[in-house]
Amino acid sequence: MITSIAQEFFKLFSRQPRLFRAPGRVNLIGEHTDYNDGFVMPAAIQFATFAAAAPREDRTVRAFSANLGEWIEFSLDDTNPTPPRTWQDYVQGVALMIERAGHRLRGVDLLIRSNVPLGAGLSSSAALEVATAKALLGASRIDLPPLEIAKLCQQAEVEFVGMRCGIMDQFASCFGEDGQALLLDCRTLDHEQLPLPEAVSLIVANTMVKHELAGSAYNERRADCEKAARIADVPALRDLEPGDLGRWMPRWPQRVGRRARHVITENARAMQAAEALRAGHLHDFGAAMYASHESLRDDYEVSCPELDIMVELARGAPGVYGSRMTGGGFGGCTISLVHHDSVEALRARLIEGYKSATGRDAVIFICRAVAGASEERAA
Ligand code: GLA
Repeated sequence: MITSIAQEFFKLFSRQPRLFRAPGRVNLIGEHTDYNDGFVMPAAIQFATFAAAAPREDRTVRAFSANLGEWIEFSLDDTNPTPPRTWQDYVQGVALMIERAGHRLRGVDLLIRSNVPLGAGLSSSAALEVATAKALLGASRIDLPPLEIAKLCQQAEVEFVGMRCGIMDQFASCFGEDGQALLLDCRTLDHEQLPLPEAVSLIVANTMVKHELAGSAYNERRADCEKAARIADVPALRDLEPGDLGRWMPRWPQRVGRRARHVITENARAMQAAEALRAGHLHDFGAAMYASHESLRDDYEVSCPELDIMVELARGAPGVYGSRMTGGGFGGCTISLVHHDSVEALRARLIEGYKSATGRDAVIFICRAVAGASEERAA
């Protein structure tokens, strides 16, 4: 991949580029908790966005998406651009936030190629943002710590793309570690690496559906959470525990209460799951995953029939510890934790069962936890 991208870049721009990689992620548990200052447990995965870059003499950014076969171009001197509402938003948003943070960038020629499934809830956006940030900074010889990069990329998505996301995806893309899940406290941004047991595989099942309204529904959920925190007079829902629900549920409007109950119980589940993983109690981990899915389905209302079907197909299959939707929801993927002896049987069961229930072809990935964003060398 890396070598062919370098060659492709040379064909387009007649120069040698530097090469950068930023991975997508899968989230094991802790869903819709990050923007509530809560806990998440993602792992960076082997699917990644690659960016090849070489500096220019001017302040123009020219980028080619090999996936879309499309060019974009903008000037870094345009300090107050209107988002064109294409993939350019991600590239330009990142450039803008880096500059607004006080770093002066050089113009750059960019080639972008990704194998992160698009719109599947595996953070194709964050991978594009982080790969872009690494490439822009690399070409300008600016060195920023990974936490700074993650924050600027999140800011680009919130302020320029208009999706009020949390920090999980960009953080996972920057901080992933081989064989490890990351337990991230989204308030302090401290994280702990949790080794994934050798005998366990992460099976990601793409339902191949993406329902509309994902963006607006996401921002609405976030607004409900903020409202719940305001009524309870706490900085964020992170500050409440399941034991507080009896007091607050009657005072929250019904829908707001259900959203808050998801977040508060999900934080508790993420902590329990981390404890279970440390202790090697995989069935307890799996129970937390199923409970997470039910709460996302019933209280947070971000699942959909296709995701529910996929989770039910995994439930009770031999060797499966747990299963749930992963990412923002409204389609995309489920993640199942399964003993590696049972991977092939589960794959067949998910594909056949999903086809007969929906008429659609699911795509199944066996995901590995990999290192976060890096500069790469062509062979
Ligand atoms: C999307 C957002 C993340 C997070 C998840 C839900 O992936 O980008 O910040 O909120 O949804 O957990």
